Amino acid sequence: MNPVFLRAIAASALFLAGATGAATPKADLLARGKYLVEGVVACGNCHMARGDKGQPLPEKGLSGGMLFDEPPFKAYASNITPDPETGIGKWTDAQLARAIREGVRPDKSLIGPPMPIEFYRHLSDTDLQAIIAYLRAQPAVRAAVPKSVYNMPLPPNYGPPVKTVKAPPASNARAYGEYLANIGHCMECHTPRDAKGQLQHDKLGAGGQVFKGPWGESTSRNLTPHATGLKDFTDAQIIRSVREGVDRSGQPYKPPMGFGFYKSISDADMAALVAYLRSLKPQSFAGK
Ligand code: HEC
Ligand code: HEC
Repeated sequence: MNPVFLRAIAASALFLAGATGAATPKADLLARGKYLVEGVVACGNCHMARGDKGQPLPEKGLSGGMLFDEPPFKAYASNITPDPETGIGKWTDAQLARAIREGVRPDKSLIGPPMPIEFYRHLSDTDLQAIIAYLRAQPAVRAAVPKSVYNMPLPPNYGPPVKTVKAPPASNARAYGEYLANIGHCMECHTPRDAKGQLQHDKLGAGGQVFKGPWGESTSRNLTPHATGLKDFTDAQIIRSVREGVDRSGQPYKPPMGFGFYKSISDADMAALVAYLRSLKPQSFAGK
């Protein structure tokens, strides 16, 4: 065959590969980011703008402002829309990645609680890129958020720099379920805390944290396979409680668990989460 012609074919094949290579993964990343952020990861449970009764204001997106008023801090959820002045519009992908996974802002200051950085350290490189692609695709909302005040020392850091993280294969349901529980920071709420407010990792999943808010009070439940936990729940009952936010008698649970987000968790991911919860060490309920 004519070498010029061959080269033309090769070039157009390359061009096609390049075009689809750039476009398909980007669309995939965005879809994955949407699935995660609007689902199990639920950044919006904290970062969604809210009205004076705590009701979400979808038109204002992830422009933040929600106050977490606790004895050790008054923290305001940041504006994480791409607005260059009041949001994250000027941050590079690498800067955003470091902020989300390591809790370090571009100016080197540390992001404080309740942003669950210790759990976000588990985010895989691909899922982190997907979340960033999603954040960038949101409309920029101009909304200045007050500065958080911490009456407690923040740690010097949340651990050594995170180089690269791979998610376990989805075929390993228990391991993948643990990954999903980490990036959904389930155990941040469902593990009891000691007098200093530190999570008691030896009581992983035993519940008992109390959350006060406009809803009154709620106490996180025991998610371990103990009689005071999920032992007598069927898989379907666990799935229903997470995705629909109702208990076994159909009564709605109270906030702050992000049930409105969890309804979009896929069947396979829900099955993985259940497999993980069933593998936890049985513990008696840590609350009253
Ligand atoms: C449990 C509540 C909570 C969740 C969930 C949460 N955040 Fe945050 N986030 C906060 C709070 C509060 C701050 C402000 C902390 C401070 O002022 O130091 C913050 C700060 C940030 C910042 C720093 C912004 C700035 O301008 O300084 C980024 C970026 C961020 N969050 C992204 C995310 C993303 C992405 C997710 C989901 C993967 C997420 N957050 C989930 C509560 C949360
Ligand atoms: C922001 C805190 C928070 C997060 C994050 C959270 N939960 Fe919850 N969860 C709660 C609270 C509080 C309750 C109890 C609500 C009530 O009693 O009205 C609850 C209830 C439950 C229940 C019902 C159990 C029962 O005995 O009735 C299940 C199951 C559950 N959560 C699983 C999960 C899973 C899985 C995740 C992660 C994908 C998760 N939770 C994330 C706070 C949280």
